[in-house]
Amino acid sequence: MINVIGLGPGNSDYITKLGETLIKDSDVLIGGKRNLESIKDFKGEKIELASNLKEIVRYINDNKEKQISVIASGDPFIYGIGKYLSQNIEPENLNVVCGISSLQYIFSKVHVDMNDLYITSSHGKTPDFDYVLSHKKVCMVTDKNIGPKEICKEIIKRSLSKTVIVGENLSYHNEKISIGKPQDILKIDNFDMCVVVLLEDY
Ligand SMILES: C[S@@+](CC[C@H](N)C(=O)[O-])C[C@H]1O[C@@H](n2cnc3c(N)ncnc32)[C@H](O)[C@@H]1O
Repeated sequence: MINVIGLGPGNSDYITKLGETLIKDSDVLIGGKRNLESIKDFKGEKIELASNLKEIVRYINDNKEKQISVIASGDPFIYGIGKYLSQNIEPENLNVVCGISSLQYIFSKVHVDMNDLYITSSHGKTPDFDYVLSHKKVCMVTDKNIGPKEICKEIIKRSLSKTVIVGENLSYHNEKISIGKPQDILKIDNFDMCVVVLLEDY
């Protein structure tokens, strides 16, 4: 059985008890660098996940006798490794443990419900902004190329009225949440790892 475990937004206080136990009992942990580094005192083997997805699946299929856990930030099925692994590993061999997504975390911090939320991503791709901005409530995972400022420029270009919430380094000691109109957000110097929420009514 392969476990795919959501670690939550980053701070270890947010990992589920089940996730923690399964990790402790694993022979092998597979995950991105930041996620592997966050698991302290692990005695087994650690394998870094980068663009080696095919090799990782082959390794998992060739080592069925081992207790293997793939760790993912937030929830594995929100812009995470869950989709790829579920498409490439037999369902009876896959145990997915959900985690608290960075999206859920930011909504709890700003006291806004997630009902009717449109979830999308600019991580490694250019979204269709006409479509994205047609929604009343949006949350985006982002990357360095298309982050809060680029999103704000798209809002201003279309003369739309939106409140923008940027959640940076959520759950870490340097967490920062900025709330404002697109023009306010453009005045902020730079942004670290972040999610962006766009609201029409706030
Ligand atoms: C590949 S996606 C993974 C999302 C993850 N599965 C989740 O549910 O939160 C990576 C992006 O998620 C967002 N993210 C993940 N953890 C974050 C955190 N602690 N603070 C802010 N944004 C975060 C950032 O936009 C980052 O670039």
